[in-house]
Amino acid sequence: MPELKRKRDPLAPVPLHTSITENQISYLVDRFYIDIAKDARLGPIFLSRNNGEWGEHLAKMKLFWSSVLLKTGKYKGQPVVKHNAIDELKTSDFERWLVMFEKTAIEAFDKDAVPLVMQIARRIANSLWLAKVGKVGEAPPF
Ligand code: HEM
Repeated sequence: MPELKRKRDPLAPVPLHTSITENQISYLVDRFYIDIAKDARLGPIFLSRNNGEWGEHLAKMKLFWSSVLLKTGKYKGQPVVKHNAIDELKTSDFERWLVMFEKTAIEAFDKDAVPLVMQIARRIANSLWLAKVGKVGEAPPF
């Protein structure tokens, strides 16, 4: 009888944290956009687009966070192009987005996963900010 091994497949994607699940991601996205819709500044930026139709966006965001946090490769898209097209985006919007996102991440994920999720969210926010708002040599304030 050959010896059974439980080695990890070296080509298998490694989640950002082992506790993170698709259900948590689904909760994160649903909860986050309920809060965003109510926000005086960020709400109108979302609700004024896509004829207020956000079902498709939520589905896309679940694929995005699944790709980022679970490395599933489910999301295909161009976030930089999409955000660059939002004329009214300014630095304080990224700061507000991150504060709101952290509040939801604390609700959605295990305690140990939250700093990792926030690190990656901040990194992506940085690169969207650099593409949209940042000037040469400038660092984001968050
Ligand atoms: C500064 C605050 C932000 C605002 C107001 C904002 C707003 C929006 C809006 C209105 C869209 C839809 C664009 C469209 O369909 O034409 C969108 C798409 C998206 N946003 Fe943001 N966003 C913000 C920050 C972020 C951050 C920090 C992330 C990631 C960490 C992110 C990830 C995405 C992704 C993945 C999409 C989908 C792009 C696609 O269509 O493939 N956003 N955002």
